[in-house]
Amino acid sequence: MKLTNSIRKFYIGSYLIDPPLVLAPMAGLTNLPFRNLCRMHGAGLVVSEMVSANGLVQNSHKTFELLKSDKYEYFFSIQIFGSSPEIMAGAAKILEKNGAMIIDINMGCPVRKVVKNGAGAALLNDLIRAREIIAAVAGGVSIPVTVKMRIGWNNPEACLELSKYAEASGVSAIAVHARSAVQKFSGTADWSVIEQVANEVNIPVIGNGDINNIHDAATLLVNSKCAGLMIGRAALGNPWIFGQIASLLNKRTPVYPDYEEIFMTMKDHINHLESIFGSKRAVKMARTVLPWYVKGFKNVKNFRCNLNMTQSINDILRLIKEYKKLIGDSVNADYTG
Ligand SMILES: Cc1cc2nc3c(=O)[nH]c(=O)nc-3n(C[C@H](O)[C@H](O)[C@H](O)COP(=O)(O)O)c2cc1C
Repeated sequence: MKLTNSIRKFYIGSYLIDPPLVLAPMAGLTNLPFRNLCRMHGAGLVVSEMVSANGLVQNSHKTFELLKSDKYEYFFSIQIFGSSPEIMAGAAKILEKNGAMIIDINMGCPVRKVVKNGAGAALLNDLIRAREIIAAVAGGVSIPVTVKMRIGWNNPEACLELSKYAEASGVSAIAVHARSAVQKFSGTADWSVIEQVANEVNIPVIGNGDINNIHDAATLLVNSKCAGLMIGRAALGNPWIFGQIASLLNKRTPVYPDYEEIFMTMKDHINHLESIFGSKRAVKMARTVLPWYVKGFKNVKNFRCNLNMTQSINDILRLIKEYKKLIGDSVNADYTG
């Protein structure tokens, strides 16, 4: 694989996305602490969890909580979902007034409670409404607007048509999750559709779906015309993946964290979750977040069981320390033979 000149940069409005690697929006997961980690480890752009346009216009406290950011994020994109062009445009205006830098429109979520209200991937089945939403949002704000879509409800035509419409409406970039809505998360992503979209439009196209490791990333970026990549599940517990991909593309040796760094990152992640969401919610979140980091480690089942029984952040920090010692002892034992 020829990597020379393969590292690209692209702009979304005036924001330079460098490296061209984006953390995918993931509901319940891409909150500020995780976005910070991905940014720190080399993501060129990070995207919020999807935020309800209805919640924004109704001034819901819970919705506004999803918008928290800090200076370490530099800039980030806020994804909104909804089915009414007026409400989506209203939400975008509220976000712009509150300092949002980039707005992303969700046209890919296949989850029942979203689709049954005509939002997310349902818009790929209702191209008239999808176009109205794009026009209303892109025409209603002066900050850059992007669209994230699946390839279609069950075929790629919707994606090709909407991409062209989005470009004509002033949308700044398109992210394509190369699966249909019907596929949900099953089957494989069809990267050839990302290429078709990239051939159709002159705005940046960001390829997404099944980039499971740094080699997948290099393969997609090098062999296609897409401007950048979006990475979701492969970044969970592995924010280092962004820097590693950038290194590979730049012909440098990717650096992998040792267990000390992994456990330090776990502690930082939990402490940051506590400072943003409070102890009670952080304890719950820790049960989802921490096992990602130690996938494949020794005695991970025990760690997970103990984690599910913890009741406080102090308990969790103690558990991390004990588990780190166990892993450290086994690493040292391996070294000394
Ligand atoms: C837990 C979870 C939550 C997700 N939430 C969102 C979301 O809020 N908005 C969205 O556009 N996509 C969402 N996605 C889809 C991802 O952004 C991405 O398109 C998908 O996971 C494919 O990329 P990957 O193979 O790199 O994970 C979610 C995916 C997962 C696994």
